[in-house]
Amino acid sequence: MEQPKTLGEFVIEKQHEFPYSTGELSSLLNSIRLAAKIVNHYVNKAGLVDILGSTGTNNAHAEEQQKLDVLANKLFINSLINREIACGIASEEEEDFISISGMKKDNQNKYVVLIDPLDGSSNIDVNVSVGTIFSIYRRISPVGTPVTLEDFLQPGINQVAAGYIIYGTSTMLVYTTGHGVNGFTLNPAIGTFYLSHPNMKFPDKGKIYSINEGNYVHFPLGVKKFIKYCQEEEDDRPYTSRYIGSLVSDFHRNLIKGGVYLYPQTAKHPNGKLRLLYECNPMAFLAEQAGGKASDGKRRILEIKPQKLHQRVPFYVGNKEMVNLIEQMIQIYD
Ligand code: AHG
Ligand code: MN
Ligand code: MN
Repeated sequence: MEQPKTLGEFVIEKQHEFPYSTGELSSLLNSIRLAAKIVNHYVNKAGLVDILGSTGTNNAHAEEQQKLDVLANKLFINSLINREIACGIASEEEEDFISISGMKKDNQNKYVVLIDPLDGSSNIDVNVSVGTIFSIYRRISPVGTPVTLEDFLQPGINQVAAGYIIYGTSTMLVYTTGHGVNGFTLNPAIGTFYLSHPNMKFPDKGKIYSINEGNYVHFPLGVKKFIKYCQEEEDDRPYTSRYIGSLVSDFHRNLIKGGVYLYPQTAKHPNGKLRLLYECNPMAFLAEQAGGKASDGKRRILEIKPQKLHQRVPFYVGNKEMVNLIEQMIQIYD
């Protein structure tokens, strides 16, 4: 039997897709791969050691932090700082960005990394899939100087790479460098990711919609109309409703089976809940690379110029046709 390719082999093989590549991006992806394995190790034994539950503190968004949020954040940040392969990091769990090039004067690296270290926190204690999301940009400011806020506030279209890790029934790492989307499954016995889902694409037709319908009364009218459309008995409808409550897991299922994820504005989150830099941009990059679409209801997510690190936006992502229909309904009714 032919042995599938490992993630490490794949990353090296694809290095030539970047003209003048120095291997820096490959090292960076390798370090994310390592951090993912360590986080996976903790997530897997979460019920056995004292890492379930809340820390009793809040994060940069005044949201309750779970112990695993804090741990995953630390693990990813330490792994990137120790290996010195990025010049800066911004994390959903940190108020400000971290300047590695400001700490270590000889840092000559050109990439900044943005992470949602643990996505789907509310699922940790109930043994439901969670994830990690990452996004990589080339810095704008000169190499060798401390990174600046501008290095992080780039439109998603500038992303060099993005991906997620899903800690599910199996653990997978899915990523893109702008040449399609590839998925790798961890063989836990050996500790190696193998290429299991080459060139991932949304199926032509989506039949799943994923939204927290508890917030229904506050949704824009266009979104309410779209939900009703999904529920109508006509043609191949009603569609199936599936909502896990961790973007990574909902997106992953919809990518494989065909569907759309929606997080509109609500009473509690008038600008939407999801963060443009740590969640929406990387997922939008993956979606487009897989033949799908991502929108805030009116604009292409990847073209939004971020104003601040922790900016939130309404988010609609998945099969192109479904996102188009949501945009049309918002345009007609709102
Ligand atoms: P995080 O755990 O990183 O804060 O993200 C949670 C996000 C997203 O992953 C998920 O789809 C959504 O919040 C769920 O929100 P509701 O509980 O409001 O549905
Ligand atoms: Mn998240
Ligand atoms: Mn998170």
